[in-house]
Order: sequence, then structure tokens, then C-alpha cells
Amino acid sequence: MVKDRKLIIAGNWKMNKTVAEALDLVNGIKREVASVKEVDIVVAPPFTALESVSKALLNSNVRLGAQNMSENGPGAFTGEIAATMLKEFSVRYVILGHSERRQYQKESDELIAKKAAAAHASALKPIVCVGETLSEREGGITEKVIGTQVRGSLAGLTREQIEETIVAYEPVWAIGTGKTASSQQAQDVHAFIRKVLVEMFDDATARRVRIQYGGSVKPSNARELMGMPDVDGALVGGAALEARSFADIIRNSI
Ligand code: 13P
Repeated sequence: MVKDRKLIIAGNWKMNKTVAEALDLVNGIKREVASVKEVDIVVAPPFTALESVSKALLNSNVRLGAQNMSENGPGAFTGEIAATMLKEFSVRYVILGHSERRQYQKESDELIAKKAAAAHASALKPIVCVGETLSEREGGITEKVIGTQVRGSLAGLTREQIEETIVAYEPVWAIGTGKTASSQQAQDVHAFIRKVLVEMFDDATARRVRIQYGGSVKPSNARELMGMPDVDGALVGGAALEARSFADIIRNSI
């Protein structure tokens, strides 16, 4: 399907890979996807591998992402990483508000909005994650939850900034479970997110924002998911930890 938004497929490596393993993986990915021009390709290794992976990606068609950053600039914030530090390694994207951080680090929509603003201030493109839990879906409040997260996590962004922001819809019940949302379930929520963006910004702006789906994306389901009109890419966890399966997801999406 021809869409006017370019697909963006990102691998979220989470807390996996030593430096040596990260280099193996990224070199494999580079080889596999060297000829791909139709998709923006991003890998997000752990902080400890950013420098090595950054060097390995020089002159390639794969861009670098980080998995989190501080809402603050450099200073007395023990254990945190500032956007300017990510820029040193040519990081272009940063995943913000992943459900694992919302759950384990208690990140709020308000905090995520501050991080998104800080990312833009350093010309990093945030990938802002939203998603409902199984009990929220079963309770029939998916749209209410997603609407609140989208409005809260993107609060204060300008039109120019939202166009350089990626929204990732990741239903919590589909993450790492092997249980993918059906392509229609994904499309329904993506269309809803775009409707919220129209209300927050305007129609033309909302039409330019890319919305990724994440949650058990694999080579076998990528084509159908990416074929949906409002699905503009994927945020891949487990299947991004192996070069061939990540590359197959990309190839199957074109
Ligand atoms: P899985 O692809 O392993 O389900 O993880 C999805 C995810 O959380 C990506 O950010």
C-alpha cells in the first residue's frame, strides 16, 4: 500500500546485549538491510553499547536510538543521561514512556511530556509510547486510557515538534507475550490516536505524524499490520534481537 508517510521500523533492544553482542547484531542488521531505502530503520541499544553501535553505523542507512533520557539538562542527577550526552553518539531518536518504564519506574504522562520537550530542544526525535493493559481493554476503557496518555504525554508540543515525533501504540498485553493485536485492533486504536492528534493540533498536522505499532511484531505478521492505513511502522522487541528476523520484518513491510 502506498502511504504518504514513510514507514519507520525500530528495534528496541531493552536490557539486552553486551557491547560485543551488540556489534554482532548491528553488523548483521547492516548487511541484511543495506539496500533498503523505503523504510526508516532505527536500532535502540542499551546506553552502554551506544558508542560502539554508533561507530558501526557510520555511513549506513540505519539510525541510532536510545531507550530513555532525562527530562533535565546536565547536572546533579545521579544515574541519569541527558539529551546532549546522547547527541555525542549521533543518537537521532529516543524512546520515551515505554510501558515497562511507566510500570517499573512509575513514569507519568507529565514526566514523559517533559522528556519529549527536552528531546526536541536537543533535536532528538522522541518515540512516545502509549498502550492499555489487558484489564483496561477488557473493561472497555481502551480509548479513554489511550486518549489520556496521548494528550498528557504530548502536552505542550508545537505543530513543528509533533511532526517530528513518533507515537508508538503498544498494547501492554501484547508485549513479549506472543499475543499480537489483530491488524484491525491496531488500526482502530491508531485511527483513534490520529483523531486525538487532530483535536490537539489540526488535520494536516495529524496526517503527517507517524504512528508505530508494537507488541509481538514478527516477520509473519508484519505485512498485514503494516498494510493498515494508519499503521506507519513498528517498534519491535524480541524479534529485533536477531538480525535475520528484524530484517525480515522490514522486508515484509515494504
Ligand atoms: P515485543 O516485540 O518483544 O513484544 O516487545 C515490544 C516492545 O515492547 C517494543 O518496545
